[in-house]
Parts: sequence; C-alpha cells; structure tokens
Amino acid sequence: MHFKDRKIIITGGPTREWLDPVRFISNPSTGKMGIALADEAFRRGGETVFIHGPIDMRLVEGKPYRTVKVESTGDMLRAVLDELKDYGLLIMSAAPADYTTVSPSATKIKKTEDELTLTLKKTPDILKNVAAKRQEGGLDHLFVVGFAAETDNVEEYALGKLKSKNLDMICLNDVSRKGAGFGTETNIIVIFNRDGVRIKLPILSKADVAVKIFDRIETQLSH
Ligand code: CTP
Repeated sequence: MHFKDRKIIITGGPTREWLDPVRFISNPSTGKMGIALADEAFRRGGETVFIHGPIDMRLVEGKPYRTVKVESTGDMLRAVLDELKDYGLLIMSAAPADYTTVSPSATKIKKTEDELTLTLKKTPDILKNVAAKRQEGGLDHLFVVGFAAETDNVEEYALGKLKSKNLDMICLNDVSRKGAGFGTETNIIVIFNRDGVRIKLPILSKADVAVKIFDRIETQLSH
C-alpha cells in the first residue's frame, strides 16, 4: 500500500472559541508543522486535504492540495469526520482549543468588575471521537497519528495519549525546549509507535521533520 492509494488528512493550526463578539480562547500555533506535513503528503502522491484553524492565509495560498478552513474545535471535529475514510491516514498536528465557554455572550462583556470568572467546558476531543468511530468498524485500515505538546513528564504523558486516544503513532513535542514548539521554524520530535518503538529525532526544520514522520509511517504501513 503506497501513499498514493491513501487519502491523507492533516490538521494544523489552532482553533478559536469565542467568549463574546470581540474575545476568544486560542493558542499560538501557526500551522507550520501541519503545512510541512501536508506538503510532504502531497509530494508522496497521496490525495491530501489540510484542515486548519485560523492561521495566516498566505501560508496556504496556491497550495496544490485541498485546504479547509475551520474556526472552533467543534468545527474541526466535523470537518475531520466528514473527510475520514478507510485506507486513510489522519495526522492531527493541530492544537485545538481544549475549553470553550459554557455560554458565549451575544454582546461585548463590559469591564465593570475587578475580577471576572469564566465558566468553561471541555471541547470535544477529536482523536477520541475518531477512536470511537474506528470501534464502530469500517475504518480498519485507517492509520492515525497524534502529536503531544508537553512541558513536563513528557514521555509519560505522550505514551498515555498514544493509549487513551488509540493511536498508531504519536509525535512528542517538548514545547519547553528551545527550537521546538509554537511558531518556531524547527522542531524536536520523539516518535513512538504502538509496539513501543521510540525514535528520537535531532533538531530539524519542520519540512525535514515531516519527511522523517512519513518515512516512519511508511515503514509501519509496510509491516
Ligand atoms: N487533540 C484532539 N482534540 C482536542 C485536543 C487535542 O484531537 N480537543 C489532539 C491534538 O491534535 C494532538 C493530540 O490530541 O494530536 C494531543 O494534543 P495535546 O494538546 O498534546 O493534548 P490534549 O489531549 O489536549 O491533553 P492535555 O491538554 O491535557 O495535555
């Protein structure tokens, strides 16, 4: 099975949860890792779709593959589920916002109080929803890769996510290290797969990280 026979779905960038018409919860993800992965997916001949949250649109202008713009984590979940198919490959490199407001205000929240308490609720976990879909059947050949952005207990947390999100592979990104994480041009990744294989990559450009991740996926798919 080659990449050209697979539909490759890559997510990237942050998502945005609005609190009122002028404020939102988000994070500094730029989508650059996701774009590097989508470029590599296309280069390897896969039918590629890049689903992204609010990012600098110049980064995706003129791309030779399909791009889908979403805003909230709920929107990203729907877009991913719409694109999923058997013999697919999903790489979730997006940084979806984990919490949203319980009740968004239709009008601007006024600055009348000295302290403001927001009540937040969890957004849907996209990978857990995908795992549930896989359990229902019909996606036996789907291959799912997650990312783990961590600052402490990095390997323990990454391996926990590999299990709890039922992933085939996880790319650990220690965002506390210089040269890794949000908005950088480089990344430092450790790749783990289901059978405990651990591959530590040196600091590399995001394009080179994408090549290494695809090489690993190729090796695993050919087993
Ligand atoms: N992810 C997801 N749905 C969410 C949040 C994250 O599918 N609502 C995906 C990310 O795209 C990534 C993986 O889950 O591939 C891990 O994301 P990360 O932010 O590291 O972890 P969380 O699951 O959000 O857990 P925590 O914030 O507690 O570390």
